[in-house]
Order: sequence, then structure tokens, then C-alpha cells
Amino acid sequence: MKVNGRHYRTIWTEDDAVVILDQTLFPHRFETRRLTTAEDAAEAIRVMRVRGAPLIGATAAYGLALALRADPSDMGLLAAREMLAATRPTAINLVWALDRVIARISPLPLARRASAAWDEAGRICDEDVAINATIGDHGLGLIRAVAARKRGAPVNILTHCNAGWLATVDWGTATAPIYKAHDAGIPVHVWVDETRPRNQGAFLTAWELGQHGVPHTVIVDNAGGHLMQRGQVDMVIVGTDRTTAQGDVCNKIGTYLKALAAADNGVPFYVALPTPTIDHSVRDGLAEIPIEERSPDEVRRIAGRAGDDVIEIELTPPGTPAANPAFDVTPARLVSALITERGIMAPTAEAIAALRMAP
Ligand code: MRU
Repeated sequence: MKVNGRHYRTIWTEDDAVVILDQTLFPHRFETRRLTTAEDAAEAIRVMRVRGAPLIGATAAYGLALALRADPSDMGLLAAREMLAATRPTAINLVWALDRVIARISPLPLARRASAAWDEAGRICDEDVAINATIGDHGLGLIRAVAARKRGAPVNILTHCNAGWLATVDWGTATAPIYKAHDAGIPVHVWVDETRPRNQGAFLTAWELGQHGVPHTVIVDNAGGHLMQRGQVDMVIVGTDRTTAQGDVCNKIGTYLKALAAADNGVPFYVALPTPTIDHSVRDGLAEIPIEERSPDEVRRIAGRAGDDVIEIELTPPGTPAANPAFDVTPARLVSALITERGIMAPTAEAIAALRMAP
């Protein structure tokens, strides 16, 4: 993604440090932050300086490499894994990336572990970029088909939360087909759900679509069904934090309601995901996926810019009880198709099991 004419990934290395974009400041400030310890990486994930399933995984992988620099022993490795795995419970990419790095470095002598982990984290990042670009190519076909039917009128795509460049190392998952379509000259317009309480849509998706020049409109979270009833949404594309072996899709809170509205209105509901976001050990998403419960203060307050300052203001009467489940599960029956780097597939147990086989 280009920002002010310079190409950025969302995470990179500089000398011995890992550098991230501090997403808690977006869109009001564009600032980088250096992570030099595993604790820095854990904190960045926990307070959502980085967020989005693939980027959480990439940051955790680098966190493990940073931990191994300080202590490459098996005990050090296990302690770091535990600390990093506890940062956020729902996105499966987190433990997937940690376990991939551990499998790679465990057989190695202690002296070689940290640098091997660093390299493995780099490979996870590079692969994420390639995977998302391929997801974009596959999803582009879906958008192109609708564009052909609409004969030059923009294809209206609704997305929820931020499954964009900022949620991955580059491209995004849900946004990759959109960027590819826009770059191919296909007219697209994106309805961006603001995504309360943390406003990843209004803050992050709107920002990055704007950087890329993609026409978009931010809507409140409850507007999607209304727009679908009026034929103003051609397709929904969302991301996912964990998709189960039977095709249930866990994603940002509110995704399920969009899927219901899409089904009621015959609007295709697509989920874009890299295959590391599939948890083959879980079948029933509702029963088995841990749903992150975040601070009620995120519901009671809202952040915004006032002059040069970023401030938080209170929304509710003092002391109002609030609940903040951060994700929900959309059953496979409401999902039209999964867009993966291995192709577009039905959200069925058979199709998902086939992904475990070698390509
Ligand atoms: O709480 P967040 O901002 O980490 O939630 C992000 C999402 O729900 C994304 O849709 C999901 O991680 C997919 S990112 C490609």
C-alpha cells in the first residue's frame, strides 16, 4: 500500500527491531513504533496497535524471535509462547504463527534459534503478502462478473470492520479483490460499516480505501440491511478471525447480522481468508470458538480528534453497564463462498478438508 507516495507494509524490520504502524492513532496520526522485546510485541497485540488476524500472527511470530534473543532455552520459549498466545483469544493465526515458528526452531541448537525464528517470521510475512494478492486475483473474478452485468455502473460492495491492508502485512483479505478491481479499471464503490465500538471501518478501512483512491461511503452499522433491501449492495465481502472445519465463520461483532440481511435479500455473502485462518480442529463455531470480551469502556466511550489532540469522550450516563463481545459466528449456511488463495470454494466440510491436502 502506498502512503504519501511511499510503499509500506504494515510490519517490517529495521536493524534489530520490528517496526509497526500504531493503529490506535489512526486515522488521526500516522506513526511508526519500534518493538524490541517480546513484551513490546505482546502489548502491541493486546492494546490493538496491531490487529486483524494475519497481522496479529505476523507480530506474534516476531515477538517469539525477540524473546529468543533474550532467552533461547525451551523454558524461555514456552514462557514467551504463553505470554503471546494470551494476548487475544479469537484469531487462530496467532497460535498458528507461534506454533509454526516453534516447530521450525525447536530442533535447532540454542545459539541458532533466535535468528532462525527471525527468518521464519519474515517468511510468514512474505507468504501473507503473496496469499492476499492471490485472494485478490480470485475475488476479482467475482467482481468482474457483476461488473459485466451492471454495464459500467459501479459494483457496490459492503464490508465490515477492517479486513484490509492494515489487518494483514499487505493487500488485505476482503480488500484485495477490491483493490485489484479498482486497479483494473472496474468501477467499484464500498459501503464501509463503521464497526462500533472500535470503529475499524470508520477509522481504518475508510482511511486505506481513501489512500488507494477507491470510492467509498461510511455507514452506521445498522444501515446495511436497509441498503440491501433497496438493491444498493451487490455483494458483501468480509474477513474472518477463525473459520471452522465445517465452514462457520467467526469475524468482528455484527458480521452475523450482515449475513442474515444478505441471505434475506439474495445478496452474495463472501468471506475472504488465507488458509492459515482455518482452524481444522474446530467444527461448530458457535460452541467452540472463544469470543473475546473486551472492556465495556470501549462501548461507553469514543475516541476522536479535537484540534491536534486525540481525545476520548463519554457516550453513556456515568456508571452505565455495558457489554463488549468483540466477535460473532456466522453459520456456514449463510456464507455464499470462501475466497482463499487456493481458489473460491463452498463453505463445506468436504471443500475445507481438501485444503489440508498438498496443493
Ligand atoms: O478486533 P480486530 O480489529 O482485530 O478484528 C479484525 C477483524 O475482525 C477482521 O475482519 C479479521 O481479523 C480478518 S483480517 C484480514
